[in-house]
Amino acid sequence: MIIRPRRLRRTPAIRDMVRETTLSVKDFIAPLFVKPGKGKKDPISSMPGQYQFSVDTLVKEAWELWGLGIPSVILFGLPDKKDATGSRSWADDGIVQLAVSAIKNKLPDMVVITDVCLCEYTDHGHCGIIKDGAVDNDATLELLARQAVSHARAGADFVAPSDMMDGRVAAIRKALDEEDFQNICILSYAVKYESAFYGPFREAADSAPQFGDRSGYQMDPANALEALKEAELDMEEGADIIMVKPALPYLDIIARVRDMSLVPVAAYNVSGEYAMVKAAEANGWIDGKRIMMEMLISIKRAGADLILTYFAKEAAGRLKIED
Ligand code: PBG
Repeated sequence: MIIRPRRLRRTPAIRDMVRETTLSVKDFIAPLFVKPGKGKKDPISSMPGQYQFSVDTLVKEAWELWGLGIPSVILFGLPDKKDATGSRSWADDGIVQLAVSAIKNKLPDMVVITDVCLCEYTDHGHCGIIKDGAVDNDATLELLARQAVSHARAGADFVAPSDMMDGRVAAIRKALDEEDFQNICILSYAVKYESAFYGPFREAADSAPQFGDRSGYQMDPANALEALKEAELDMEEGADIIMVKPALPYLDIIARVRDMSLVPVAAYNVSGEYAMVKAAEANGWIDGKRIMMEMLISIKRAGADLILTYFAKEAAGRLKIED
């Protein structure tokens, strides 16, 4: 007798019934870039379909995403000026702070997340402050905490530290609690690799390091046990959600982190993953829409509960059609 798994693949209705993983707009967190000015929506050349917005056009974009059922956005700021300590990152009139309050003002129920890091705000482009040519971990913690508190004050629901300093989740939690922000969640970039897949983002956010690289603080792509250690540390320090980043080259890590963690797991489908699809699609080499959906379902199947993705808007449109 032949065992026939194909019986369950025979019709669309049967396939729908036995599908193990589903994708929903509720899984998506849309990354958005915001900069000073008015009426701006400047295309990012290496990320077709993505823009640098000014606050007014950003609110319009958030409105459209909310209308599609996408519950959440994560904001990245391009400040008016940079300095050695990234001081514009914790200014109450900083670009992200203005953007958060503008979105919450129009869309109070939208979950607004802010990226907490210094690299977009420092003139040297590193994620912490520099002492003797290297990023100083402990001196950076206080600045990250200050930035997180100022995002919370502006109305952020979640802060998302992406700097990879040791001890930053605990430092941020303590600072938030001291300022009476007990209800603000921390989505920690717990497992963040030192990856070339961030290339297009660094154009989008103008955040490339001006010397050296980030291998002194971001993780070695060869390491998996270290990922579990980072995830455990961040949970112990009080992270409400932990993230693995990038997503596609690290599906094994997403699966292992999902297995060992008791909090929701997010995955960041990063700029390079997006750019590759867009470039191949533009050349007519692949069916970009199908590849997009296949990538997203794979990230979900690996174990991610939430996906930060530049495809959010496009995939939401696609999910509507398939419904
Ligand atoms: C800031 C930060 C980066 C990304 C998210 N937050 C860049 C980096 O670490 O160099 C990358 C996101 C992407 O590539 O889409 N530290």
